[in-house]
Amino acid sequence: MRKYLVLSVFTLGLALVAGLGLTTALKAAGEVDDRTLSAAGDPVKGKRVFMRCQACHTLVAAQHRMGPSLANLFGQEAGTAAGFPRYSNALKEADFMWTEAALDEWLASPKAFLPGNKMPFAGIRNPQDRKDLLAYLREVFNGAQ
Ligand code: HEC
Repeated sequence: MRKYLVLSVFTLGLALVAGLGLTTALKAAGEVDDRTLSAAGDPVKGKRVFMRCQACHTLVAAQHRMGPSLANLFGQEAGTAAGFPRYSNALKEADFMWTEAALDEWLASPKAFLPGNKMPFAGIRNPQDRKDLLAYLREVFNGAQ
């Protein structure tokens, strides 16, 4: 009898942990799919905003410049672009996924969003410029899939 009790408590615990994990995963997936910001942007204008990034970033997979390729950005864990050798500890140790909301905050002020990162870029002040840029990045990203 006691054995059953222990077993069912254990099973209940497992179910709870699995359930929590699933909720977290679903929530993260929902955030990754959230296109509210890019939907309010103009990709044609965003392409021009991206000129401010181009010296250091490409949108071609595995083509790194001073900064990592941004080809697979949406839904990618921060600091994990394959083959990029120069991440700061701040980005390497960061534990979040690149969603539109996270990118919007990072691009507004990289330093405020993630202290200790090494991206030499002050940020994009104008919120509409950031939405336009996200719309352009989404367009390229979806085209590549
Ligand atoms: C002068 C060079 C430079 C410019 C300009 C620049 N970046 Fe970066 N970027 C970097 C470097 C270097 C890193 C890596 C920073 C680190 O490891 O802390 C980085 C990292 C990033 C990351 C994190 C990527 C990952 O794999 O987690 C994103 C996203 C990003 N940049 C987007 C942009 C966008 C969008 C622009 C234009 C608005 C931009 N950057 C402008 C150099 C630059």
